[in-house]
Amino acid sequence: MLRRTLLRTLLAAGLASRAAVAQAEPDRCTTVPPAPSYRDWPRVTGPLQRDPAQEALIAKLVTGMTLAQKVGQMTQAEAAHCTPEEARRFYVGSILSGGNDWPAGRTAPPAGWLKVADAYWDASMSTDLPIHVPILYGVDAVHGNQKQFGATLFPHPIGLGATRDACLVERIGAATARQLRVSGLDYTFAPTVAVVEDVRWGRTYEGFSSEPAVVRHLSAALTRGLMGLSGPATSFPGVLTSSKHFLGDGGTDRGLDQGVNSASLQQLIDQHAQGYVATLEAGAQSVMASYSSWVGEPGLPGGKLHGSRYLLTTALKEKMGFDGFVISDYDAIAQLPGCTVTRCAQAINAGVDLFMVPKHWRMFIADTVDLVEKGEVPMSRIDDAVTRILRVKLRAGLFQLPRPSQRAGAGDEAALLARPLAREAVRRSLVLLKNEGGVLPLRRGAKVLVVGKGADSLPMQCGGWSLGWQSTDGTNADFPAGQTVLTAVREAVGPERVTFSEAAQGVDAAAFDAVLAVIGEPPYAEFMGDVAWNPLTRRPPPSGQAARETLELAARHPEDLAALDRVSGKGVPVVTVLLTGRPLYTDRELNRSAAFVVAWWPGTEGGGVADLLFRDAAGAVAHDFQGRLPFPWPRSACQVGTRSPGEPLFPLGYGLSYAKPGKVAALHETPGPASGCTD
Ligand code: BGC
Ligand code: BGC
Repeated sequence: MLRRTLLRTLLAAGLASRAAVAQAEPDRCTTVPPAPSYRDWPRVTGPLQRDPAQEALIAKLVTGMTLAQKVGQMTQAEAAHCTPEEARRFYVGSILSGGNDWPAGRTAPPAGWLKVADAYWDASMSTDLPIHVPILYGVDAVHGNQKQFGATLFPHPIGLGATRDACLVERIGAATARQLRVSGLDYTFAPTVAVVEDVRWGRTYEGFSSEPAVVRHLSAALTRGLMGLSGPATSFPGVLTSSKHFLGDGGTDRGLDQGVNSASLQQLIDQHAQGYVATLEAGAQSVMASYSSWVGEPGLPGGKLHGSRYLLTTALKEKMGFDGFVISDYDAIAQLPGCTVTRCAQAINAGVDLFMVPKHWRMFIADTVDLVEKGEVPMSRIDDAVTRILRVKLRAGLFQLPRPSQRAGAGDEAALLARPLAREAVRRSLVLLKNEGGVLPLRRGAKVLVVGKGADSLPMQCGGWSLGWQSTDGTNADFPAGQTVLTAVREAVGPERVTFSEAAQGVDAAAFDAVLAVIGEPPYAEFMGDVAWNPLTRRPPPSGQAARETLELAARHPEDLAALDRVSGKGVPVVTVLLTGRPLYTDRELNRSAAFVVAWWPGTEGGGVADLLFRDAAGAVAHDFQGRLPFPWPRSACQVGTRSPGEPLFPLGYGLSYAKPGKVAALHETPGPASGCTD
């Protein structure tokens, strides 16, 4: 009660002070309103209004469809496993290209994607339905259109969380929508609105923050930018989004991907649902169910989210008033007890509307028709699902649009590039943890030794979900429009002043004015990035190397500490830039660095890093640091998140700048437990 009153007072104060500054631009963008406190699922009103003409058309369409045609609409197949001709024959409602699916080839130009998108479109427009229902094509454009070779990639959401800037994030959403249009795509599985509690989770970087208010602020902005919505309307001009993963994916025990969330109902509503309230208010029309489970409460059954009628239907659709569609995650229905990858009455009856059944979609249609014929799924549920899908397609304007290659922006290769915007986002997202003796910014004339495995690696800068799912086997050639930090530094100070030695072997640091070390985490995605061992990796538990199950960078990536050891203590300042998908325990690396910058996974524009590290040509500060930690920074190897006891080393919101320097004392360097974290 007290907490709620306090929050309300804070909220009122925030509103009052914002009014006082007459809605000045920077304030509106970066002031994060406190998250309201909810006792029950709040009723949400979005900008998209019910349109009687649309509803009448939907009713007519649904009445005219056979059961098989309806189930076809409820099906999302993967391009690799469904030809356009099959999509036509089976009335498939949606196509996806998942993490590793490139129907026109991995490095296809936009023309290749457009050909594919046109083929599916034409198929959907040549069925024997009296009124053709256009197909919807979705991909994971989670930090720019990462499926499209040659596209500029933005910082991952964790970096955007460090900016707190909703206006910047909205512009990134709009730029991503343009990139998707170039390739003929109309649906992205973003934003991830997870409130991440345990950073051992391999998807930490896909979320904006551990702080629900930041998640609200930025996920709504990204949704607005992607959908192109700014006020009340009956349709939207941008791309369809999907708020994911509903619900509580960021709060699983031990940070296990697809794990179990033990939150109370009150915590689900008051913390984990915040990003859904905010994105639905912004207009979101699709919500992706989570692979994870909820423990439940007396009277409310727990279990896998895909089977939760209470959460998908009672809470989301009935109480919150969501009238778009719920999509299932990749083959997720197979995980429900009693279900297979193609047959799952539980998920349909729980409220899933569109089924991501990438490979076995044909059998899914047959099985679902059978379930309805046997009375295990009522026809009213099927009609409701199809109604929702058609409503979203109408609101997306699909019924009015020409084939993908003829739409505005299609094939416009210039729109794949958003380099100045991405570079600005990088500059805004970097967090300065340490800068002893004002080492930074460096002089332009400085002789710099660059070391570390991240210095000349676009795959490491881009992280997971970058022209690939895991993105572990990428090369710089995968990102032709990108610039590594090394290239950017050479451009800034002149190539003759820069020496690069990845492992720092056989070079004498003492011969330079400064050392720049770019270290950190190579890419990963989903469960493959979990720190606590996850059986989903299908690898045996790492016996004998349990230390890697902590957040200690020196244990996870000893090569980074080895490089720092070769260059530190030589009387030359070491500036460390950490590329990472999550906060890490970095006491040893901090002690060996005079300055320490967290760059997250910044994407293709290494120039944004160099912008902050060097003075301008006249010797003045060119750009100052503005990023602030979107997560607390761990003081020990097992301080894994917001539920961990003790003070963090640097709190949420921490970040130094040239204008506001600070001192960081020598740290204790206590090694993490060799047996891994206990909880
Ligand atoms: C797909 C991804 C998907 C993953 C699920 C991969 O093969 O390409 O899109 O997220 O499987 O496990
Ligand atoms: C992931 C989703 C993603 C989907 C399609 C799943 O494995 O959990 O976030 O949107 O694959 O690639």
